[in-house]
Amino acid sequence: MRVFGGIPLLGEVVISGSKNLSLPALAASLLTDSPVTFRNVPRLTDIDSMLELLGYLGMNISTREDSSISVCTPDIKATEAPYDFVRKMRASILVLGPLVARCRKASVSLPGGCAIGARGVNLHLNALEQMGAEISIDNGYIKASAPNGLVGCDIHFPISTVTGTENILMAASLAGGTTRIINAAMEPEVIALADLLILMGAKIDGHGSSIITIDGSDSLHGADFRIMPDRIEAGTYAIAAAVTNGSLILKNCVYDHLSQFFDVLHLAGVDSKIISKTSENLDNIEVHRSGGDNRIIPVDVQTAPYPGFATDLQAQFMTLMTICNGTSSITENIFENRFMHIPELSRLGANISIHGKTAIVTGVKKLIGTQVMATDLRASVSLVLAGLMAEGETVVNRLYHIDRGYENIDQKLLACNARIERFSV
Ligand code: EPZ
Repeated sequence: MRVFGGIPLLGEVVISGSKNLSLPALAASLLTDSPVTFRNVPRLTDIDSMLELLGYLGMNISTREDSSISVCTPDIKATEAPYDFVRKMRASILVLGPLVARCRKASVSLPGGCAIGARGVNLHLNALEQMGAEISIDNGYIKASAPNGLVGCDIHFPISTVTGTENILMAASLAGGTTRIINAAMEPEVIALADLLILMGAKIDGHGSSIITIDGSDSLHGADFRIMPDRIEAGTYAIAAAVTNGSLILKNCVYDHLSQFFDVLHLAGVDSKIISKTSENLDNIEVHRSGGDNRIIPVDVQTAPYPGFATDLQAQFMTLMTICNGTSSITENIFENRFMHIPELSRLGANISIHGKTAIVTGVKKLIGTQVMATDLRASVSLVLAGLMAEGETVVNRLYHIDRGYENIDQKLLACNARIERFSV
């Protein structure tokens, strides 16, 4: 993508449905043979990958223009998630819990590493073993079987894991007896997945707290479910308003999902306020720098599980800090290698040094556009944000990363005065 910097973004951005809710929610529909309808599903390559895998497993899928998707899996045709699917999208691991719960066996390719870190799934596997599954790893595949069905028990996660919690939530919904997930992830996407499962007939309590209790059911039924707005997409566009010293109205958001993040932005000299509500009681939020042409104020952040500072907004926030009026320290506590945007930001003239898990960002007056390379989803968008504020032209290569998680990003930015164009070489 060619990005011409220095233009304040002005206008409205409609926030799409959450990628990180859509992925587990689609997997959860494997748990029933009844139809499930999902509304407000974002059109993303990650969603396409998940639908491809689910279709392979036997799911009938009909997508509609109004971004709703109706699915039904009367019977599972395959219990294997082949490497070719999983290597494209590691969230494919989310079919493991539902397959073992419904079919009492599954063979899922190990996701392998990814750009941002080892991304192990050992916690998912240990938990399923505690619930009675026999797990082995044979030439890169997770072989799981529970011939007598899964049995509920206490699952204590040593660290908070989002998809680990989600896999066990889904598996426990059809297990015999009661499962308690202790040290459960509390992300809004986990809460919403529990709400979907409850809508399908599951008996779940405590979601949103660190202990979730699930009383297993014999079967689940269909549901009609609306995907909540994507808080990471919303946070990304809030930063876009800040770095370009523009003013954006983010439409169809949930302010509460970003309240801690907006508090940090406020400390950095960026204000956000709810200016109206939608008919579905969602928030329209206006974001702009708090006063005239002030510089961005340095703020130190540490990423942490929700409700802490989201690791998925770390790269974008770092782009904002590259022009701060001082020095900001940004510590990445969730993933061991989520600093690959730093060498690329440095090519644009940012002054960042890495000390283990912490990056020290010393603000510069401005960035200067040049060629940069995207490495992963959130790093790629942090480079587009940098291009929007850099002097001159920035070319961001390997843009396929961005299409995994940002629906219609070109159109959304162009509608707010951005000067960008996508091209192929
Ligand atoms: C989810 O990944 C999100 N993906 C990620 O978003 C997000 O960054 C992450 O949660 C943290 O919020 C989806 O929801 C599809 P974890 P997940 O299990 O579940 C380690 C994006 O940009 N770990 O909470 O894979 C793991 O390596 C993506 O949209 C184990 O070691 O993250 C990581 O260091 C990127 N063993 C930490 O725990 C396990 O079995 C937290 O990972 C599981 C996790």
